[in-house]
Amino acid sequence: MYSEKVMDHFEHPRNVGEIENASGVGTVGNAKCGDIMRIYLDIDDNQIIRDVKFKTFGCGAAVATSSMATELVKGKSVKEAMQVTNKAVMEALDGLPPVKVHCSLLAEEAIHAALWDYAQKNGIQIDGLEKPKSDIHEDEEEEEEY
Ligand code: FES
Repeated sequence: MYSEKVMDHFEHPRNVGEIENASGVGTVGNAKCGDIMRIYLDIDDNQIIRDVKFKTFGCGAAVATSSMATELVKGKSVKEAMQVTNKAVMEALDGLPPVKVHCSLLAEEAIHAALWDYAQKNGIQIDGLEKPKSDIHEDEEEEEEY
């Protein structure tokens, strides 16, 4: 039921860990399954993502999607990182079973939350980036769109 790529990233997740003094950190949770994901971004003065790490307290699909998402944003500009949607992550993984689509959303949201944190800290604006809805540092919002 899972593609080989999903299994590969699940069994050998890339970029697991944390970054000290990260430029941006985003933590999001899914209210339904209770899974949590945190992304750390190291961004240089040219707004290029030099390094990225993640930690996931979640299911196998969440591990695989965060692993792939970190691979996709590494070395990219913050603008390009905005193109790394859950759809892009799923395509890169050769698909996910429908019941697991929300797990890939967690990866997208965590990246956005980390970019938001970076933008806030540096007083910049990133086109198309909205305040994260489910950052667990914020008040719990029980908004479910998926
Ligand atoms: Fe919750 Fe996968 S079941 S992230």
